[in-house]
Amino acid sequence: DKGNHRHFMLKEIYEQPDALSHTVSHYVDLAKGKVKLPADLPFDFAKLNRLTISACGTAYYAGLVAKYWFEKYARLPVEVDVASEFRYREPPMDKDGLALFISQSGETADTLAALRYCKAQGQHIASIVNAQESTIARESDIVFPILCGPEISVASTKATTAQMSVLASLAIAAGRQRGTISEAEEFELVDMLAKLPGAITKALASEKKIDQISHELSKASDVLYLGRGSLFPIALEGALKLKEITYIHAEGYASGELKHGPIALIDETLPVVVVAPSDPLFDKTISNMHEVAARGGKIILITDEAGAKSAGDDVHEIIIVPNAHAFVMPIICAIPVQLLAYYTAVFMGTDVDQPRNLAKSVTVE
Ligand code: M6R
Repeated sequence: DKGNHRHFMLKEIYEQPDALSHTVSHYVDLAKGKVKLPADLPFDFAKLNRLTISACGTAYYAGLVAKYWFEKYARLPVEVDVASEFRYREPPMDKDGLALFISQSGETADTLAALRYCKAQGQHIASIVNAQESTIARESDIVFPILCGPEISVASTKATTAQMSVLASLAIAAGRQRGTISEAEEFELVDMLAKLPGAITKALASEKKIDQISHELSKASDVLYLGRGSLFPIALEGALKLKEITYIHAEGYASGELKHGPIALIDETLPVVVVAPSDPLFDKTISNMHEVAARGGKIILITDEAGAKSAGDDVHEIIIVPNAHAFVMPIICAIPVQLLAYYTAVFMGTDVDQPRNLAKSVTVE
């Protein structure tokens, strides 16, 4: 049931504050300011040399964001790969390593095959899934449920942000077990997760502005998305969402890669969505943005208030997200890229919930 919403996708976008508050409260003890770990955890983060993450599509991008978190807060090396590549690479794996699989449906064929490969390699198998009765859940040693409720729209929204919340909680837990974050730091990070639902609600308020911007975006034949650090995967996610439901060609790039090729594409017809809240890497991304503007590229900047003030006048449109710590920014910035894809698709009249050629669950390779 879509309720008052025109599409499941919009309903699910709007469910995110509630879904995330549900997910976060499962993983963190707000009163104590600590992440809760199951008592029967079959591995110890402190003993790991490496974490290997495999997933497909949007779930893979959630894994890419997690890499930044686990490396920074838990000082744990992370390898992330798309499951369809990982499964055929014959990667060597140290015994007793941890392999983590992320899947909304729990039935994605390539992710399942990657899981079975890791099992044969003697890895601990953990999964983050929404469908708890699924094959991937059944074949895992431990399941971290996403708990966002059923997701109907083919384009994943609430499952993505809820997956990231689970991953953020696990990264904090890993930091605690590995002794790389203090109790005070854990308290602060947990508090940021607790405040996420409120921040998401504020991010949703840019809906009208995004609706306007989408009319112009719908005329483009190509769109470039740029981001740096943990926002790079959000640029990839934005491009995927746009492709899936509007059929406009879009590419996500790490801002620093601009000069290494894609800058050749820039002209007046190319909208460039820059995801750059005012974090420590902001100035670097802004200088990439000026390079785009100098060549006539039309910039749509996703940033916070402080970022908007220092962005300069090269920017064509600004979408404001609420102020927050860099830790949670990838989750918050996922909202405007979802809305941008959604409104562009609605304006173009495509089948938003059931885009052509796509299935909700990809059970064949
Ligand atoms: O069910 P899964 O999370 O394993 O699905 C993975 C991808 O097929 C999925 O995320 C796909 O990329 C979405 N349609 C993205 O919106």
